[in-house]
Amino acid sequence: DRLAAFIARLPKAELHVHVEGTLEPGMMFELAERNGVELPWPDPAAAAAARAQYTCLEDFLAAYYAGMSVLRTTRDYKQLADAYLARAAAQGVRHAEVFFDPQAHLERGVPFSTFLPGLAAAVQAAPQRHGLTASLIMCFVRHLGPQAAADTLEQALPHLPLICGVGLDSSELGHPPHQYRALFERAAQLGLHRVAHAGEEGPAEYVAEAVSLLGVERVDHGLHCLDDPQLVERLEAMRMPLTVCPLSNLQLQVYKGCLGEKLTQLVRDTRLVITVNSDDPAYFLPPSKAACSGGYVNANYLYLAEVAGLDEAALAELAANSFRASFLGPAAKEAHVAEVA
Ligand code: ADE
Ligand code: ZN
Repeated sequence: DRLAAFIARLPKAELHVHVEGTLEPGMMFELAERNGVELPWPDPAAAAAARAQYTCLEDFLAAYYAGMSVLRTTRDYKQLADAYLARAAAQGVRHAEVFFDPQAHLERGVPFSTFLPGLAAAVQAAPQRHGLTASLIMCFVRHLGPQAAADTLEQALPHLPLICGVGLDSSELGHPPHQYRALFERAAQLGLHRVAHAGEEGPAEYVAEAVSLLGVERVDHGLHCLDDPQLVERLEAMRMPLTVCPLSNLQLQVYKGCLGEKLTQLVRDTRLVITVNSDDPAYFLPPSKAACSGGYVNANYLYLAEVAGLDEAALAELAANSFRASFLGPAAKEAHVAEVA
């Protein structure tokens, strides 16, 4: 329809997408065969069907870590990232800041020197090949704890020129951000940008900790900040961007009660700097009525527009926010924002 066509044409940045979460069932089985890896699903159709079943973050994470076990060689990582960047470009994405989870690969015996060159090759080729810019953000997985994260940062030191920033993801409840304070201080000293998942399943307090103790420049998800009106005011005053992922929140049922009401509140009733993102687009599908393919960024804009009743001007503002909240330089930001208007 009209709104879907407007969204498809809108230039946008994607700031919250896990490269491992862009692994579509077809490529998953192709790589499983190439690398002799066993998957917990018999075929791509079964892996695809499993995507509809998650009822919380932990359910999804089990499938996400199982799926990425097929990634073994530099070629695999390059193929995965390149395929995502091609799909993103086709959706009007002009710039992508792409998360990866080094520990999920290191734990399986795949070293930095295997996965990082593959991811970086795809990122470096993106302007020529697909007409968008991209950068890499290294996320620490909270389920392995702060010491493992600190060791990972030290292991990453030889590769820092290829890494734009650090993030924090995986399981949230029981892993408050304050545990990562020293790590994020070290990352800041190394000149890295900082973001963190907070307030996805976890409470508003975790969002407050991420902002005041980790010095993050964006909050990933951040949805549960709504439970603390004073925190919302602080985030508004700071112009702290939230990278919201509507279809992810819907599928993982991270808000008990009506998600549509919460999303509406975020974009209509607050002055928060909201951006729209896909999180793990190969794993999250739009409700069937959405006129977009897969769980990629445009399906997320369309779903949000439908539940919150957004018009073209509001959607263009969200797209402009995505460039403003990016780690691009001021001139590039300005040029992209001008292109949206
Ligand atoms: N890793 C990949 N997707 C994630 C999400 N939605 N929350 C936390 N960790 C993740
Ligand atoms: Zn995420």
